[in-house]
Amino acid sequence: MTVSPNSAPLGAAPARRTVVAAVGAVGLAAALSACGDEKGGSSEPAGDAASAGAGGGKELAKTSDIPEGGGKVFADAGVVVTQPKKGEFKGFTTTCTHQGCAVTGVADGSIDCPCHGSKFSIADGSVTSPPATRPLPEKKITVSGDSISLA
Ligand code: FES
Repeated sequence: MTVSPNSAPLGAAPARRTVVAAVGAVGLAAALSACGDEKGGSSEPAGDAASAGAGGGKELAKTSDIPEGGGKVFADAGVVVTQPKKGEFKGFTTTCTHQGCAVTGVADGSIDCPCHGSKFSIADGSVTSPPATRPLPEKKITVSGDSISLA
């Protein structure tokens, strides 16, 4: 709060006022809402089934949803499910061991982190391309019939 004694003519426009517009908050929302939402009309029971199996693992996918030699990221559950060999399913955390970004895709036999380009093997989570140095930790999944759940 400074008052300049002499040099302020009365009635001058508020020249120093800075108007701060809402800049920047718009682009983020668009970027964050682009995730694939795979709810392909599966026959989900009304959620009232008496105890759905042991352990209460939530179904992630059908085995047919996971490509052989590939995998799929379930961002909400924080798990990547892969099928390195026919009929063999693995689960890994989605949290990259480099700096904690979420991995976002599976391609060409690897689980890919978009932040700095680390890649992890779909077979055992080992690093196939740095900068990450530690493997993606496994996450236990259960395959029951054609249904894959978190253990
Ligand atoms: S956080 Fe995944 S590569 Fe850096």
